[in-house]
Parts: sequence; C-alpha cells; structure tokens
Amino acid sequence: MKLADAKKRAEELRKTINEHNHRYYVLNQPIITDFEFDILLNELETIEKNFPELVTPDSPTMRVGSDLTEEFVQAEHTWPMLSLGNTYSAGEVAEFGERVRKSLGYDPEYVCELKYDGLSISLTYENGLLVRAVTRGDGTAGDDVTVNVKTIRSIPVRVRAEMVPSSFVIRGEIYLPRKGFDEMNAARQARGEPPFANPRNAAAGTLKLLDPRIVASRSLDCFLYYLLGDRLPADNHFDNLKAARQWGFRTPDVIQLCHGMDDVLSFISAWENERKKLPYDTDGVVIKVNSLVAQQLLGNTAKSPRWAMAYKYAAEQAVTELLSVDYQVGRTGNVTPVANLRPVLLAGTTVKRASLHNSSQIELLGLHYGDSVIIEKGGEIIPKIVAVETGRRVPDSGPVSFPETCPECNTPLVRNEGEANHYCPNYLHCPPQITGRIIHFVSRKAMDIEGLGEETVELLFSNGLIRNIADLYDLKHEQLAGLERMGNKSASNILAGLTSSLSAQWHKKLFALGIRHVGETVARTLATGFPDIDSLMNATEEQLSELPEIGPRISASVREYFSDDENIEIIRRLRAAGMSFEGPVRQARAGGPLAGKNIVVSGTFEGFSRKGIKAAIEAAGGRVTATVSGSTSFIVAGSDMGPSKREKAMKLGVQILTEEEFVKMIKE
Ligand code: IVH
Repeated sequence: MKLADAKKRAEELRKTINEHNHRYYVLNQPIITDFEFDILLNELETIEKNFPELVTPDSPTMRVGSDLTEEFVQAEHTWPMLSLGNTYSAGEVAEFGERVRKSLGYDPEYVCELKYDGLSISLTYENGLLVRAVTRGDGTAGDDVTVNVKTIRSIPVRVRAEMVPSSFVIRGEIYLPRKGFDEMNAARQARGEPPFANPRNAAAGTLKLLDPRIVASRSLDCFLYYLLGDRLPADNHFDNLKAARQWGFRTPDVIQLCHGMDDVLSFISAWENERKKLPYDTDGVVIKVNSLVAQQLLGNTAKSPRWAMAYKYAAEQAVTELLSVDYQVGRTGNVTPVANLRPVLLAGTTVKRASLHNSSQIELLGLHYGDSVIIEKGGEIIPKIVAVETGRRVPDSGPVSFPETCPECNTPLVRNEGEANHYCPNYLHCPPQITGRIIHFVSRKAMDIEGLGEETVELLFSNGLIRNIADLYDLKHEQLAGLERMGNKSASNILAGLTSSLSAQWHKKLFALGIRHVGETVARTLATGFPDIDSLMNATEEQLSELPEIGPRISASVREYFSDDENIEIIRRLRAAGMSFEGPVRQARAGGPLAGKNIVVSGTFEGFSRKGIKAAIEAAGGRVTATVSGSTSFIVAGSDMGPSKREKAMKLGVQILTEEEFVKMIKE
C-alpha cells in the first residue's frame, strides 16, 4: 500500500469506527457484531503499525471505544459521604458503646458487618433505574463512573420490586475478589506490565479506566451496605438492608444484629481468623447503631457519624534484621531513608525493604545497624519498621545516622524549622530531582502521557534530550526513534501522547507542575478558585489563603514557585508549545446564566467538540450530568441524539434544546 492510499483508508476507517463506537456506547444500538468491529479496528491498527507517521492522537486505536474519551464528569453527593472513626483496640470499641449509651440514655441494638477493603460507591436510583454511580471523591462530590459501574453484573440497572421508593441512594464497596486479582496480575505480567500491589488498588485502577469494555472484562463486584432516602422501608438499618436484598441488591452476607456491646466484641473475635477464608479481602468490622432515630439523635461530627465506628484488625508483623539504609532523593528534594532488610515472609509476600519516613523516625526508633526490627504491613505497599528489639542488639553496632550531604549531588542538606524532613536544596541540578519532576509531570494522575514512563524519562535525560518539562514538547520524532529500545511506533506514541496532553484539565496541569505542597486535592482547590494561571501567578499569599484548606505553608510555596524566573520561563515555553492553563470554573457561578442547572448533552455538534460543550456549560455555571433523570434541567441535542435518551426525556417532560437555542441561552 502506498502512503497516500494508506492515509485515505485510515481516515475512512477512523470515521466508520467512531460511528460504530458511538452507536455501541452512546446509543446502545450497534449495527455490526463485535467480531466485525474488531476486523475494522485490526485493519486500522495494521495501517498505523506500517505507517507510524499516520497515527493521530485521537485515533480510535489510541483509546479503544468509549463514550467517555475524556475525564469523568463530577457529580455532587445529595448526602455527603462521611468516613468512619476507626480503632485497633477493643477497649476503644467499648468506649464508643459507653459514649452512645450516655448520649441516648440506653444501650441500643448494634449491627456488625465486615469492613470490605475496596472503594466506596454511591448509587442513585430514580423510578427504579440506576441513574448515577459516583465515587467518594472528596466526600462532597465524586467522579461519575456510571458507565463502568453498569458493567458490574450484581448491581441492578433496574429494580422492579414492590414498595421501592421512587428515589433512593444505596452505598457500598466495590472490590475485586482475590481470584480475579490473581488472574488480572498474571495477565499483566505476561504482557510485561507492572502488577497491582493489592486487590484494592486494582479495583480502584479498574473503576477509573476510560474504557468500559476493559472494566467489563475484570471481575469487579460490590457489596451494598447503606440505604439512604426520604422514604425508606424500615426504621432501622438491619431491616432496610433486608428490604434492599429483596429488591435484588447484593447486601453483606456476613451481618449480625447485636444486643449490646458483648455481642459486638464476640463478633469481632469470631471473625478475626474466619474472614481469611472468604474469597475477598476484609480489614475489620463496622459497627452501626441499628435504629435510624437513634442514629439521628447521635448525629455526625464534621468528618464521621457518631453512630458508627470501624474496628480494624491489627496488621500482621514480623521480625527481621536491618542490613543497611539507602537514602532516596525525591522530586521535591526530600530525602527519604529506606531500610534494607534480611528477607522475611509477611502476610504472604517476601519483604526486603521498609520505609523509615525521615530522620525523626530513625531517632525515635533509636535504630542501629544490625538491629532486630519489627516490621508491619498496613494499607501501604511498602511495610514500615514499628519497633526495635533493643535487648537483642549486637554490641558495638553503630547507630544509623542521617547523611549531612545529598547522596546524589553532595550539596549540604537542609532541614527547615519545625519540619521532619531533610531536603536537598539543589533544585536545578540534582539529577533525581530533575527526573523526578519530569516523571511526576507525565504520570497518570498528572498529565497522563502515554508511552512516557519512568524508564523512558531516565533514558531521555541521560541522553541529554530533556532537562525540564518544557523540553518534552521540543522532542522530535527522529531524536526519539534513534534511542535504544525505541522504535518508530513508540516514538509516534510518545509524540501523540504529548500532543493530546496539551488539552488536559487545568487542575491536572497545575498538579503536574509539581509545586511543593500542591497535591491533587490542593490543585483542585486552587484551580477552582483561580480560573487561569495568570490570576494564580498574580495572587498574593492573603488571596491564596482565602481558599478553603489553603494555609500559609501552601500559599508561601505557591508564591515561591511563581517568583522563580526559571519556572516562569518553563511556563512561557509550555504556552508557546500550545498548552493553555485555564479551566472552566467548576463551582456554579452564582451569576452565570446556567447556575444551578443540571444539563445532559447528547449527539455531535457543529460548533463544539464534546469537551468544548461541557466546558461552555461549566463556564456558564451549569453542571454536566451523564444521564437523563427527573433532576435534569434540559438536554442539549446534537445532530444524532440517541433515541433512547429522546424517549426518556419525553417521558419525564425534560426540555430538549438545539445547539442554536443553547448558544443563545449562554450568550444571554
Ligand atoms: S458504612 C456513614 N459499612 O469503610 C457510614 N462502610 O472507613 C458509611 N466500608 O467509607 C459507611 N465496609 O468505604 C460501611 N460494611 C461497611 C463497610 C464500610 C467497608 C468502608 C467505606 C467507608 C470506610 C470507612
């Protein structure tokens, strides 16, 4: 095939494949079989393999079919998703019982359930239909992952029982059974991909995938343990879950009604070992006051309900020997000590390294080389040293002392007043700081640049091709393709990934810059408070501190970042490469023409891309939601709106606007 023919055919295929994707995922009306679809996709993949220069960043081969090629839409929780107070001590569970007794004036019934180790999800049903599935997010709003949740077979998409309230929320935990986890990791390793550390991480990673077909291929499951609504079937938690089970929901199969704290404590000890026989991971017991009236009387603190508590089973421990300590320099210059241990078996895996956090931790433990140390595995991937058996110390063993200079570049380390960490101040020239910043920038939670991982960044750096994040966007195909272990295809993939990253969301770009103390949550807050980078750059520390959760430490760090000429130059170059640093203001703008409106978009538009129309709605103060429901204010319909959506809108009496009418409305 000649290049010109290949180009023409690739374009045809892309158009056809996109149409079929749309029919399959958005309209739910495929007109070809999956097999026929795969043939088309294969043909396109083959062309792109033979002519890498034809790969486009938006080719369907890059992100195989989904109606959500962008990020998930945010949705607010009607009732905030609180967390639970937790403890490792039976004594504290008894104290919780005492507090409850004092507040209520009597000893109530409790319900005990196992604490599932997954991620929480909130499902909203309206008129029997699952309309929304939202992750916990920050407790007030989370990601709308409905398309993915619908692939979980045990979650009913429609409930058809009698006496089901017209509207309710049911919450629970999505998890990956151990068998599914093992299979998935085996497949990943066979493909040369890194395995997930535990079923919880694997479940979380799966739920956030942009392709529901991959989600469907993994065996996610869900237990639902909390019913909310204005008209619930019963006045207590236990019977509400019973009703939910009758409606078809998978509620906990280990659940017990307890008459008093003694019952609760027996449940806890009975399940400590028994739970290990279950096919999924649990890490404790959740204890809930049964009566809803009593729950209401007890109320909530800002963070968690006073009527429930989690007891966590102690993490498993092991004893081993401290061999040596490495000092790793991170992207912000922080120096983290890591202990090398004599390998030991702990909770099913062999442990060779443990985190020591910082120098205070070393001092606190009074650590010497050769010490016998007790290690523990909590929720983290890497275990930690929790204690030293000083009685078994070898005479003459020297204490572990923190280095005074950077192990990578020899610059004297600094420790700020009041901070536990030492850091290397050689921001500009210390190699792991340079590569660490770039690796952070390209990482999944930041710019999510496909094809650019840790190893490739190291390779580009050691070949002198990049020194900062702006250099990435100057990379040329021939520079990349010339490197060892890199072919034409990988080079094209990287360039395509870089191009599509130019339009990443504002808060992700801000997080990607790697400003000290600006993590994902802080980046979101800043991006909501400041519509673009210019307003953020010009903000004073006082203005920054006016935002929720932004204190003097963060404000000072943001100011410091933007006072550095080198950083300003990097931002200038990123902008020159086509990167914009601005976002739709997510919070409903009080004055915006669409303030307080929930809007569904469907079909394709003349003047907007899907992303563009969402941005326009948000900029006007509206909120984009994924599915049509009673709370939908109106639908903006493009040229090929799905008939199922149209039918539903008619049924619910939801207004349908054309693109033209919509434009007029936002211009008002
Ligand atoms: S009830 C307001 N029940 O644990 C009470 N939570 O540490 C709502 N979890 O956020 C939670 N198993 O993600 C409840 N049987 C269970 C649970 C459970 C696991 C999780 C849930 C929650 C977290 C709190």
